Amino acid sequence: MRNLPWKSVWITGAGKGIGAALAEALSERGCTVYISSRTPDDLEKVKQRCDKFPGLVVPIPLDITDHYQIEDMMKSWDKGAGLPELVVLNAGTHDPFPAQEFSASRCKRLLKVNLQGTINCLDPVLDRFIQTGKGHVAVMASVAGYRGLPTAAAYGAGKAALNNMCEALYLDLKGSGVKLQVINPGFVRTPLTDKNEFAMPALIEPEDAAQRIIKGLLSSRFEITFPKRFVYFLKLLRLLPNSWYLWLISHTVKTETVSTRKQDHGEQA
Ligand SMILES: NC(=O)c1ccc[n+]([C@@H]2O[C@H](COP(=O)([O-])OP(=O)(O)OC[C@H]3O[C@@H](n4cnc5c(N)ncnc54)[C@H](OP(=O)(O)O)[C@@H]3O)[C@@H](O)[C@H]2O)c1
Repeated sequence: MRNLPWKSVWITGAGKGIGAALAEALSERGCTVYISSRTPDDLEKVKQRCDKFPGLVVPIPLDITDHYQIEDMMKSWDKGAGLPELVVLNAGTHDPFPAQEFSASRCKRLLKVNLQGTINCLDPVLDRFIQTGKGHVAVMASVAGYRGLPTAAAYGAGKAALNNMCEALYLDLKGSGVKLQVINPGFVRTPLTDKNEFAMPALIEPEDAAQRIIKGLLSSRFEITFPKRFVYFLKLLRLLPNSWYLWLISHTVKTETVSTRKQDHGEQA
């Protein structure tokens, strides 16, 4: 197996799901992995599962929506070994809801983690990488950002924004020595997708996703995306005129009609 080019890696959202599987796979291959999420117990469990591997796993409990926590963590890296060479901004959440339950507060909660939280981490990471003229950062988005999908107005909007942002940053970073990639997976079986009440096509296991992510990180491609056949189909849908796309999705994806708006629609966002 090929040696990995990173001595140390920081992964957000590594307490469970894809992030945890990625941490385990990287530790198995000898990397020192700093793992973050809000739940220390989850991080401890990941660390224990990695005890048998050569790579050290260091839990750093962190809420990516909290600027101060991120700042403190950066300061301690600045004083010590420095920021890891590879950063995977993977933390994210999902709260599927239809238009009938649309509310500013619910959108804000989701975007605060998936979009603003990722930006909160990107800011100090890019700052340090640009200053030193090296470093590798990968941002977890989703194929749900390609086009609008039922019950995913807020989730899809956040992931579409991350895709657009990464494209812009990639162009700006050309020649800077900093490598930036975006990760757009299809369905992966995790606590996040366990919430889905529909059959998920081309569903893969998190361990499989982790291996595909590592392969993508080792490549020079801007976009890391899998599983291939499912993603090619979705990319094809992106090319369809709106009327064809909306007709096709509304006739193939089953959604429940919700007749009442949820109670918190009047909350301040
Ligand atoms: N699973 C899929 O099919 C799929 C497909 C495409 C993209 N994705 C994306 O992949 C990423 C990981 O998804 P997953 O399926 O592995 O989800 P998951 O199993 O729910 O894990 C998400 C991780 O993010 C952490 N997290 C959530 N909010 C956080 C916050 N404010 N600060 C720090 N950590 C936070 C969670 O821990 P705590 O709650 O303890 O903080 C958890 O460790 C997400 O960005 C998701 O949108 C997933």
